[in-house]
Amino acid sequence: MDRIKAELEDCNQDYYIYDLTALERRIKWLTSVTEHRLFYAVKANSDERIIATLAPYVAGFEVASPGEIQKVRSVSKDATIIYGGPVKTKRNLSYALDNGVQSIQVESLFELDSLAELLDNTERHIEVMLRINLSDIKSTAKLKMAGVPTQFGLPEEDLDEAFQLCDSIGQLTLVGFHFHSMSNNLDVSAHVSFIEKAIQFTHNFESRLPGDYAINVGGGIGIDYAGESVFDFDDFANEIKAFPRLTFELGRFITAPVGYYAAAVYDIKTMHNQTFALLNGGTNHFRFPKAWYHNHPLEIVEREMTTPSASSRSKQAGASHQVEVEKMSSDQTEQLSERVKYSTRQKEIRNQEVTLAGKLCTPNDVFGPPYVVDSLATGDWIVFKYAGSYSYDISHLQFLSHDLPIVKYI
Ligand SMILES: Cc1ncc(COP(=O)(O)O)c(C=O)c1O
Repeated sequence: MDRIKAELEDCNQDYYIYDLTALERRIKWLTSVTEHRLFYAVKANSDERIIATLAPYVAGFEVASPGEIQKVRSVSKDATIIYGGPVKTKRNLSYALDNGVQSIQVESLFELDSLAELLDNTERHIEVMLRINLSDIKSTAKLKMAGVPTQFGLPEEDLDEAFQLCDSIGQLTLVGFHFHSMSNNLDVSAHVSFIEKAIQFTHNFESRLPGDYAINVGGGIGIDYAGESVFDFDDFANEIKAFPRLTFELGRFITAPVGYYAAAVYDIKTMHNQTFALLNGGTNHFRFPKAWYHNHPLEIVEREMTTPSASSRSKQAGASHQVEVEKMSSDQTEQLSERVKYSTRQKEIRNQEVTLAGKLCTPNDVFGPPYVVDSLATGDWIVFKYAGSYSYDISHLQFLSHDLPIVKYI
């Protein structure tokens, strides 16, 4: 946390901080314990420095839009790109063909028709994988894309026509199936049995596929934001060691732990018996805890207090279960103490429930349910951890047109 604290320079700003050193360490570990192919799902965090850090280690990048293709291409002209997502217009597909995408994960017959038209009378070729919504998948996943009725994948009754189209269009090469099925699964054995189902399904259609067919099992490996367990990737890698070669498209599991979102406490107030800490940030910049409505793991970084009543604060403040308290370095506190001089309205709460709110004009702008804090004061920083995936990228950054968070890299 010291390296993060050192970056919190200006309380008028909120920050994303990405630890690229930790990211490189993490991807080296993941790719060293398995022979299966690991792609990075760009949607989790499309920051170009994240992509650049991962590029030397991953098999390639899974993208869901021309914008993501462009971001990958701006980092690498030749990285392998595979393109998924439920709606791909002809223009989107044309962009993918123009930018050297290796394969398309097809989700509808429309897509195959569009590809046929785009390839007609050209010398171009593209690989396709058919996305399948398997039935009867058991998991602890937070979100389920398959095993339940969803908009994803080809309807079963279209499968035969999809095979026929792929056979009849010489420039389309059917290479296998795509099974991305869940998000934030924490259960190793459930993930292994989902993969076994995907392998079994693929075996059943072996006669329609090339010898070195691909089994893309997507992403979905989870992070336990409650901090009670971890998905044991070493154990998982061991369990799937003997499986036919798999392709993964991991997002959250790669980048979540290396990102932080930090915003300073601007004011604290109690309204109708509920206490709110208003942060100089908001769910427009960090939507994830609101979207999942959970207590996101965080640390409180204390500003130095200059008033006598406050000076005893840090001695009494302890770390609670959800929230850890840290102290600022003296350089930073000098700057914050300056600010204290201008205001006589500094507040502090102790051992209390507090709702963390942002600066949007809506009561919905709260970072999940109330948190229990040992101590929190105006000027403190709230540093949310595990903000490296589905954080900046899923936030409605334009709402109210506030200054965007500053992104820093360590
Ligand atoms: C097709 C596809 N692949 C991969 C991913 C990455 O999933 P995760 O971040 O859970 O690993 C997603 C996320 O929704 C996805 O839609």
